Amino acid sequence: MKESSARIIRLAEYKEPDYWIKNTQLVIRIFDGYTEVSSELTMVKNARVDGLPTLVLDGVEQTIKQLHFDDTEISQYQYSDDKLTVQPVAEEFIFKAVTRIDPENNTSLEGLYKSGSMYCTQCEAEGFRKITFYLDRPDVMATFTTRIEADKASFPTLLANGNPIDEGELENGRHFATWQDPFVKPAYLFAAVAGDLVRKDDSFTTCSGREISLRIFAEPRNAHKTDFALDSLKRSMKWDEKRYGREYDLDIFMIVASDFFNMGAMENKGLNIFNSAAVLANQETSSDDRFERIEAIVAHEYFHNWSGNRVTCRDWFQLSLKEGFTVYRDAHFTSDMHDATVKRIKDARFLKTVQFPEDSGPNAHPVKPQEYQEINNFYTVTIYEKGAEVVGMINTLIGEDLFRKGSDLYFERFDGCAATTDDFVACMQEVSGYDFTQFKRWYTQAGTPTVVVSQHYDAEQQQYQLSFSQSQKPTPGQSEKLPMVIPVKMALLNAQGDELAIDCDADFNQQTQVLTLTEAQTTVTFSGVSEQPYASLFRDFSAPVRVEFELSEAELLLLASKDKNAYNRFDAVQKIYLDTLIAMIKNGDNQTPSLVLDVVRASLADNALSPAIKSLMLALPSYQLLVDSLQQKVDADALVAARQAMKQSIANSFKAEWAELTLSLQSEQAYQFNAEQAGRRELQALTLSYWAETGDAAALDFAKALYQQANNQTDRLNGLKAVLDNGSDALVSDLLDDFYQRWHEDTQMVETWLLLQASAKGVTIDTIKALMQHEAFDITNPNKVRSVLAGFMNNFTSYHQKDFSGYDFIAQRIIQLDAINPQVAARFVTALENWKVFSGQRAEAMKQALQSIADSQGRSPDVSEKVEKALA
Ligand code: ARG
Ligand code: ZN
Repeated sequence: MKESSARIIRLAEYKEPDYWIKNTQLVIRIFDGYTEVSSELTMVKNARVDGLPTLVLDGVEQTIKQLHFDDTEISQYQYSDDKLTVQPVAEEFIFKAVTRIDPENNTSLEGLYKSGSMYCTQCEAEGFRKITFYLDRPDVMATFTTRIEADKASFPTLLANGNPIDEGELENGRHFATWQDPFVKPAYLFAAVAGDLVRKDDSFTTCSGREISLRIFAEPRNAHKTDFALDSLKRSMKWDEKRYGREYDLDIFMIVASDFFNMGAMENKGLNIFNSAAVLANQETSSDDRFERIEAIVAHEYFHNWSGNRVTCRDWFQLSLKEGFTVYRDAHFTSDMHDATVKRIKDARFLKTVQFPEDSGPNAHPVKPQEYQEINNFYTVTIYEKGAEVVGMINTLIGEDLFRKGSDLYFERFDGCAATTDDFVACMQEVSGYDFTQFKRWYTQAGTPTVVVSQHYDAEQQQYQLSFSQSQKPTPGQSEKLPMVIPVKMALLNAQGDELAIDCDADFNQQTQVLTLTEAQTTVTFSGVSEQPYASLFRDFSAPVRVEFELSEAELLLLASKDKNAYNRFDAVQKIYLDTLIAMIKNGDNQTPSLVLDVVRASLADNALSPAIKSLMLALPSYQLLVDSLQQKVDADALVAARQAMKQSIANSFKAEWAELTLSLQSEQAYQFNAEQAGRRELQALTLSYWAETGDAAALDFAKALYQQANNQTDRLNGLKAVLDNGSDALVSDLLDDFYQRWHEDTQMVETWLLLQASAKGVTIDTIKALMQHEAFDITNPNKVRSVLAGFMNNFTSYHQKDFSGYDFIAQRIIQLDAINPQVAARFVTALENWKVFSGQRAEAMKQALQSIADSQGRSPDVSEKVEKALA
């Protein structure tokens, strides 16, 4: 793909289509070696358009057999550059096409493709055009009837959206099934599956008393791993009724597990298709994290039935309308199911670690982008997670009750429609009377605001002042930034950590304890403050901003030990680690100061902390978070040295405590995935990793026994990871061999086995290459590729090794993958795109690696867009 062919799609150029599709009838005939698709599209001209314009349909890699308008064959047509152009002769007609496609060789995993032994589809965002000619855009919504025909012995299960209306036998051992979806939907929500699958059934009675049949389909060898997802689904259905008043609409809800999948899962109407890794689980093979992730994804896709399907997006610039809102909904669900503070800490940490760097790099884009080349590149943490934060701030500003009213109004008003983020915000404005005009900059301005805070206490006047100044660096294509609406959930504390009554001269909501900033500079004066207070700001991470607030050691320690807001306590502890590490890096002095050890001691001793929070408080910030927090050219070697020194020092200073805690956290309880048990295991993993870091042989014995005696995957992995990081080469390879021997027939376990090795301390490129040669590896399978390559790229010390060889290695893999699966290849460019944050020759080496991709032949638009932006 050459630069000149880069096609830029702009929000400003949005216009309605010339024709609408009312109904879509599909027949998909699957044969060995090819698939024939017949479509009949009932179309009508858009009443707002004059004359009888040409009809331009999307279609990729279609081999045309026949085209008709009603019963008249179309002899004049043009098919080039993925567009079919024909001239209708009436305002209403049925467009018919018979085409052939090649799912067996479709390694992009978009459209209809072969996943192991089954056929399945992925149509979001623009995959439907790989199945048949269509107006493949989300504002074109139709009812669908889908008939699938295939060999009965090989593909006994035939599924599509909606309800089954017919099935039967055909000649030559073939059969068919017909499905009808009565709800209008855009083509991106279409799905079809043909396979030899086992079905697990359950049911759910809705709030209005309707009985819904729930079905999960998996390949027979995975049949024992579907219970947890079914249970998560029922809890999600109940939660959405209770929290959002949303009842399920069809009579059947189906989930299919697919081993070959580009993303986590897909919310196709009534027929969700999931990456096997995001749905199949049991205690033996899934860790606590995995259970939590699966529960969240099942909920996420289910919630899309309303926030996404019943109300969909007008165009792809509105992607966050469904994704940001749905992530917000699933986060709230997880909070309700487990521990709200733990969830908030993890979400905020993820945002800072992954989204902040995106928002300060070459791919920074607003939650509502203005333009794109390849929409697949915009399924980002900004659209999803920052989008969820923006929705969360709306809730914070108007309060829970009005937010619910606004969401009710939104679902009612836009049911069956393709809406915009403005529509969503307008509903919130209508029910609350809150003026969101300025707030909407969160949708249009890219970049993370920085809020600098300073304080002043006047004992004589009993007045305390906080000054906030907000600013934003330019991002690509946006040099001017305007002030944002920033909700600051806050409290002032006395020396005992008690919250003081607030009397101030600013926009402070007493009920929600939220101070709202709207100007570049704001000074707030608090009256009647009889002693110097401690400011606890941005409680619960009330806005996705960077905060710079110089605090004394005494202030930090008070917040870290006494703040009643558990999120902020965690945040104060993290700030102590981060500020210290940054100082160590800048000074080239790797002595860990007593402040850090004091904080660790206090956290260890605090019996009021839950194990989950304690483990979060005792964990050092990741390398990735440190890189982002440095806000200057990063010397990666110095950074690694400082963090390793601090970890060593914490490990050695509390050696006895780590050993004792690790042992005391051992439990005889029967395994269950719940917040309490998961928190205990998480803390044990952390204490064990510090203990093992001290080099104590007893720690390794414990880790080895934990691995060997585990009756669940969490303990097994916790033991194995401690061995991988600290054990002898012989022990490491013993346990890895044992793992593979025992589990090589289980796909999820093999993926874990690959990931463990790719992310192990000190892994070399030779090991990565060997993994890619292993019988368990398959470069056409995104999960396997991610296990090895993403595992390596997130392994900071190995990927950023001193000889810089990691970069060229990854660049070559991106080029190799691009020929197979552009969408997955483009994601890996992220690991090179922030080259400018590093210093010296390292930055040069990363840039060179990007340049080698740019210079390669036959790049996809996906990879081109990301590489060109990174080099610009
Ligand atoms: N809508 C899916 C989800 O909930 C993601 C699909 C992404 N597809 C893609 N081609 N990028 O989150
Ligand atoms: Zn989604």
